[in-house]
Amino acid sequence: MLFKWTLLAAYSAIAQAGTVIWDGTFNNFNSPSDFDKWSWANQVGTYQWYIHGSGATSNYLNLDSSYKNPAQTNEKHGLKMTIDTTATWNSQMERAELIPQTTANLGTGTLFYHFSIKRSNTNAPDSSLEHQIAFFESHFTELKYGVSPNPTNLQWHVGGVSKWGTPFTADTWFNFAYEINFSAQTVGLWHSTGGNPLTKVVQNIGASTYTNSADFHVGVLRIVNRNPPEDWYWSGVYIESGSINTAIGNGSGGGGSTTTRPATTTTAPSSTSTPTSTSTTTTTTASGPYQTQWGQCGGTGYTGPTECAPPATCKAVSPPYYYQCQ
Ligand SMILES: *[C@@H]1O[C@H](CO)[C@@H](O)[C@H](O)[C@H]1NC(C)=O
Ligand SMILES: *[C@@H]1O[C@H](CO)[C@@H](O)[C@H](O)[C@H]1NC(C)=O
Repeated sequence: MLFKWTLLAAYSAIAQAGTVIWDGTFNNFNSPSDFDKWSWANQVGTYQWYIHGSGATSNYLNLDSSYKNPAQTNEKHGLKMTIDTTATWNSQMERAELIPQTTANLGTGTLFYHFSIKRSNTNAPDSSLEHQIAFFESHFTELKYGVSPNPTNLQWHVGGVSKWGTPFTADTWFNFAYEINFSAQTVGLWHSTGGNPLTKVVQNIGASTYTNSADFHVGVLRIVNRNPPEDWYWSGVYIESGSINTAIGNGSGGGGSTTTRPATTTTAPSSTSTPTSTSTTTTTTASGPYQTQWGQCGGTGYTGPTECAPPATCKAVSPPYYYQCQ
């Protein structure tokens, strides 16, 4: 009898598992100029594209089937993202970042933020310089590259504190999912390489989880502006609610399939709900001090802080002239 009940419970969990609430795959984009269709006045498509340099979008974003994780069967192509000395936005830092464009609430319940990244030996990222990757405005979870004590690692940080890392080897796809429980204010990490299913590598820990649904940065910020250019490859970007789809390639966004295979993920209870206070003092290292609420955080000619003290985020009040922390 007990066994039967367990099966039933498992079945109902599967039935509502793995709904893609935002599809960040690049299937809806056929050329770099498609990203330019989005503007503050015309908020179309699945990505906001405003954090970039003054060059043509094709200097920073390019699509090709060779740029995706080959295991991502639902994607026609991936994204090659290039940062160079022109890739500046509201600062001298090199930045190219896509932001979800959606009416979905990306900050409620438990969500899985999926993405895959790769580098090659051509235009390889410089491991002597700090990079922030796939981050939120408040940096409660992000990857870093080029930071001590393992600058050649992709290093997962929670509130500025390193929690896990893996060598960022060339020509290998690194798949990730941030498991964010916005109710419990915790975040955990899932990871695999290539076409292997995701496994949970760090159990959920306390974090200042927050998003206004428009501050997940699918992109790279490099602190120092100098040559040569760097290429970063992106694939398999989507956000899912319910239970995690651990497969790379099936069940992700873009293919129209929103149900997952019955992944038998034994999500262990987060036994280490560490207090969040540890994470509050360490987040300012990278991009300088935070601007306070209602302060300016961007705009033509502005050179001050571009990141807002959480939970405020930088809003385009009168772009391109004035941006304010709200
Ligand atoms: C998220 O956290 C809440 C509150 O601690 C908990 O009840 C819930 O089970 C968690 N959700 C998941 C999917 O782990
Ligand atoms: C994806 O689905 C196909 C058939 O639908 C199956 O053959 C393949 O093994 C699946 N791949 C993964 C990674 O689950």
